[in-house]
Amino acid sequence: MKKILILLASLSACLMFSACGQSEAAAASAAENATLKTIFARKSVRKYTPRPVEKQTLELLVRAGMAAPSGKNVQPWSFVIVTDEAVLKKFGQSGNSSMAKDAKAAIVVCGNPSASELWMLDCSAAAQNILLAAESVGLGAVWTAGYPYPERIKLISEILGLPKETVPLNIIVIGYPAGNDQPKNKWDPAKVHYDKW
Ligand SMILES: Cc1cc2nc3c(=O)[nH]c(=O)nc-3n(C[C@H](O)[C@H](O)[C@H](O)COP(=O)(O)O)c2cc1C
Repeated sequence: MKKILILLASLSACLMFSACGQSEAAAASAAENATLKTIFARKSVRKYTPRPVEKQTLELLVRAGMAAPSGKNVQPWSFVIVTDEAVLKKFGQSGNSSMAKDAKAAIVVCGNPSASELWMLDCSAAAQNILLAAESVGLGAVWTAGYPYPERIKLISEILGLPKETVPLNIIVIGYPAGNDQPKNKWDPAKVHYDKW
């Protein structure tokens, strides 16, 4: 059974790559490499089952977030782990985060602009790590914007009681996937330049 699953995973990676004009060698390494598999499998997931997300799994995701690089290693981030359904429903008041109403968890990635002018870039790296970690443990997640929209920043800050100097970059809405979302094929050779534009 395990062998069949590995074979299917390899085949789907090969199909993904051959459709993109990538070499068979690249397809083979993507099929064998757990990190690349996760990167290529990640997609935004907006529909969730009622299964709760374990607190230790959410902490693991935040650990992955904190493992991100940051300018001068300032780490100008903080994270709010949310499992309270009343809070998730409040997040869902914002149209762009409406899926939070039916989610079981969320991680709000916050930045401190007075700690670093690079806070938004650093926090984005942390957020991407969280998305990849979620994918790797079988969770579905989606980045929903806080920053730079003043009304969304205000709403999230009020709901969570964030300190004045803290800006919510996003709400990463999380749950066990209910649908059959698939990763999009974004490979575009026209956007790649070699040695010179
Ligand atoms: C900066 C940023 C802001 C986003 N904001 C939202 C949002 O507010 N609501 C939402 O449903 N998805 C949001 N997304 C998710 C994108 O819609 C999604 O990543 C994009 O459609 C590509 O799909 P994929 O993630 O499945 O590859 C955001 C993504 C990024 C990176």
